[in-house]
Amino acid sequence: MTSERTSLHGQWSSRWTFILATTGAAVGLGNIWKFPYLAGEHGGSAFVLVYLICVALLGIPMMMAEVMLGRRGRQTPMYTMRSLAEETHRSRHWQWLGFAGTLTGVLILSYYSVIGGWTLAYAFRTGTGAFHDASAEGVSGLFNDFVGDPLAVFGWHSLFMLMTMVVVAFGVQKGLERATKYLMPALVVLLLGLVGYSATTGYMLEGVAFIFAPDFSRLTGTSMLAAMGQAFFSLSLGMGTIMIYGSYLPAGVSIARTSIIVALADTSIAVIAGLAIFPIVFANGLEPGAGPSLIFETLPLAFAQMTGGILIGVMFFILLLVAAWTSSISLIEPAVTLLVEKFRMTRLRASVLSGLVTWVLGLGTVFSFNIWADYRIFDKNFFDLLDFLTSNIMLPLGGLFIAVFCGWLLAREVSQTELRLDGGPGFHLWHGLIRYVAPIAMLIVFAYAVGVIR
Ligand code: PHE
Repeated sequence: MTSERTSLHGQWSSRWTFILATTGAAVGLGNIWKFPYLAGEHGGSAFVLVYLICVALLGIPMMMAEVMLGRRGRQTPMYTMRSLAEETHRSRHWQWLGFAGTLTGVLILSYYSVIGGWTLAYAFRTGTGAFHDASAEGVSGLFNDFVGDPLAVFGWHSLFMLMTMVVVAFGVQKGLERATKYLMPALVVLLLGLVGYSATTGYMLEGVAFIFAPDFSRLTGTSMLAAMGQAFFSLSLGMGTIMIYGSYLPAGVSIARTSIIVALADTSIAVIAGLAIFPIVFANGLEPGAGPSLIFETLPLAFAQMTGGILIGVMFFILLLVAAWTSSISLIEPAVTLLVEKFRMTRLRASVLSGLVTWVLGLGTVFSFNIWADYRIFDKNFFDLLDFLTSNIMLPLGGLFIAVFCGWLLAREVSQTELRLDGGPGFHLWHGLIRYVAPIAMLIVFAYAVGVIR
């Protein structure tokens, strides 16, 4: 039996629109803002290696699993999990896995939107010449002044959230597809151009060595957990985004091939961003472990130094904004579809309601960089804590449960038919990865992180 059900919310018009939209959801701030600063904080190459291994061994099979569950269930993640659990005579409580993912999406979006706001602000500020001729200290001073001003950050966060709500309200066909189609390739071209610029700084080798030369002395439980969390975050796994996008996928499309394309595109863009940023870091004597401010303190410097830098800088931040935008709509989609399906709300109302809740939650992050900067729990401010909980705990844990469900509870025939791998070696490879490798690897990383294994 194949999935003949169609989603209440629409369907992608072809396999390529699915690939584009899913890549749009995957590629975002995670690749260009987060990957470089995490790699910088966790010592570079060791982190990158664990990240790449996680993408290959956990990310790709997990993405296939989520697309498959979504296409089979064709509902909001909570109801998709419920109907699949019922179909396989398992407990209905599996629906809470879908619900937890939906919640994780809202929590992530609450801070994602604040950083999206920074991007908006930086497009504007680059355009008005704020970084013209600025030195490294100047650029970093401007960043600190900016995030130190709660009202400004709040304003940009609100604008970004509003942009997200508007697109989500228009639904899957019109809103999501149109936004994704043209601007992603432009971002890649611009990033490659930045790598070209970085090569002229004379520090490309240092940058490449930092990302790729193996150095296991920096590998700790914490950095492994961060690398695994980042693999999930960057591929949008473990929370239902891919499930919901899969639910709009027409039957008959190869899930394996599609997932591999999306994962490769996402990972390449992160690595390219790293290659663009680290040479600039080393050429200017900056700190690779600067944290969330990293790209906002390095790229404006490059734009200040290159010819046509203002124009290129504005274009870069606008394209990054679009990438963040196509991800933000996917973060809130599970919540919106849940409200539509559970309470029969209109899409418009569901988008406004979930957007407002996220917007208010975002205040915690807005204030983390100024008036609440000194409030710390476990030595983390609100933003750090939220990010740690969502990326490093909730996403991988969501993934672990999805792997257990697909590997151990869902009937083989179901996954075999949905994946169309017909029991060949491809299917056995996927099944082995999802049944044994993914759960065991995740448990090992968790055990390292809490110090049970050393
Ligand atoms: N993958 C997105 C990024 O890298 C963020 C995201 C996470 C989107 C989870 C949806 C779900 O920016």
